Amino acid sequence: MLMILRFFKRHVKIGAMFILLSLGCQPKHPLSPILLGVTAENAMVVSARKEASAIGLSVMARGGNAFDAMFATELALAVVYPYAGNLGGGGFMVYRLADGSTGSLDYREMAPSAAHRDMFLDRSGNHDTAKSTVGGLAIGVPGTIKGIFAAQKKFGLLSVEALMNPVIELAEKGYVVTQKQSDRLAQYREIIRQTTGTQTLYTRDINPGDTIKNLALAQTLRRLRDQGQEAFYQGDMAEHMSTYIQAKGGVIQSEDFEHYKVHWRDPVSFQYEDLTITSMGPPSSGGICLGQIMGMLEPYDFDDLDHNNALYIQLLTEAERRAYADRSHFLGDPDFVSIPTEQLLSRAYLEQKMASFDPKRATASEHIAHGPLIGHESDETTHYSIVDPFGNAISVTTTINGAYGSKLFDPELGFFYNNEMDDFSAKPGTPNMFGLIGGTANAIAPGKRMLSSMTPTIVTKQGELWQVLGSPGGSTIITTVLQIILNTHHFNMGMQQAVNQPRMHHQWLPDLIQFESEGFEQKLLDSLEQKGYKTIQKEYQIIGKVDAIMRHSTGILEAGADPRGDDTALGF
Ligand code: DON
Repeated sequence: MLMILRFFKRHVKIGAMFILLSLGCQPKHPLSPILLGVTAENAMVVSARKEASAIGLSVMARGGNAFDAMFATELALAVVYPYAGNLGGGGFMVYRLADGSTGSLDYREMAPSAAHRDMFLDRSGNHDTAKSTVGGLAIGVPGTIKGIFAAQKKFGLLSVEALMNPVIELAEKGYVVTQKQSDRLAQYREIIRQTTGTQTLYTRDINPGDTIKNLALAQTLRRLRDQGQEAFYQGDMAEHMSTYIQAKGGVIQSEDFEHYKVHWRDPVSFQYEDLTITSMGPPSSGGICLGQIMGMLEPYDFDDLDHNNALYIQLLTEAERRAYADRSHFLGDPDFVSIPTEQLLSRAYLEQKMASFDPKRATASEHIAHGPLIGHESDETTHYSIVDPFGNAISVTTTINGAYGSKLFDPELGFFYNNEMDDFSAKPGTPNMFGLIGGTANAIAPGKRMLSSMTPTIVTKQGELWQVLGSPGGSTIITTVLQIILNTHHFNMGMQQAVNQPRMHHQWLPDLIQFESEGFEQKLLDSLEQKGYKTIQKEYQIIGKVDAIMRHSTGILEAGADPRGDDTALGF
């Protein structure tokens, strides 16, 4: 009976045309994936830069585990990938231990104690976006150092000294600049110079092939190695940072550093067919939003859909817009607002949300609202994935928000500060830098964490580790992660193949399907436009930059290192 209902539900929803297609059809997607990615038998690190992957892997070759590798990889990214790697930002880590237990760590930035709801509004009450994105006021209290020290202390095997020495050496000896890196630095050089107010390491002319040594950062790391994370959050380093940030228009005080805490939180976990998906809960919207979208998609039959065809794009779009409408209303820091996670993920609620989907025409976002829920009152980030020889897996997304964060570089300490305050809803109903509209659940308050879209995720299949994945990309992170899981699960792609595929995105408002510039034909966009969808395909547009690992049924680890960047997988 359940089968019949399920069949009926699936096919009635998509419509008569689809019934004809599905009757008597065999699944058209290949039965075994092609392995295009780097493979390994025991351990793997996939990150935005080869130097960071190499340092993480060498830690595991010396007997360290995934948490030791996380510590070293994250710091190495701060050296070689200042675009997003950081000491001045924050992040989220989702883990699965070899025994199958899971957990997550929130080391998201926090609003300073002097922050207030209207701090980014001008005299006319309008959101002054320059203030929430550039310079001292845009900075949230950084969490990265406390985060990686906490993770390593709880689960790591090696000494902090052994993990930090190769990173310090990397900062001292330098790394070689890639073409992509030099292009990005050129693009942001002037604004970094204006914000920092002086010529610094990253404002001089930097060309591909140049070697960059960051001696100030090496010195900061040496102090952290010798004195521990307290050296960052207390004493003269915290004094220096607060004085410097205040001189640049910010309000962070040294006590804000002292009061910063990381939180071990229960991850969000949900079923999708035979998969168990474990992802980040609030203050990230990633896990809940991904769970809502996948819950809305599950009743449909993907065997009869061609990858990225019009009906497939429609289905994703309609589920995505409905989930992002809820994101905007319900989600914020769980220590400040109550979040009805269970109801948001309930199948009955999600089915009712999708009931208005009509495959013949677009649902306008203006007709989609959040809830109602019964009883409820109302460029740049980086991701890395690690699997260790012990069978532990960790998925980490870390960020300073925009490219080079607030553009404020600290020449004395050798890193950029974040501009994470822009992830708050500065004024309900007005978009942030990712075009996301927020509500009062994500309003600014002292000590509160800003809502994130970061979606570090681990997928198990029939109880076995299957995937470790995540991405940067602001609001597009969630839909990027979604597409990788669908590509692998429904279209039987290997991980590298799944990562290489072109991607699309919809986030409720603006009511637009965004497409990457490569890989989608005009006639597909035209056919969607005819059904009332608005589409946009900008030149050079990429959506997400995934670094993922898939564990095949043979036990082989296969990487998906995104060719959209300099991302590199290494394993043994
Ligand atoms: O936490 C968030 O959702 C954002 N601060 C992430 C920023 C990001 O991914 C920028 N990268 N392109």
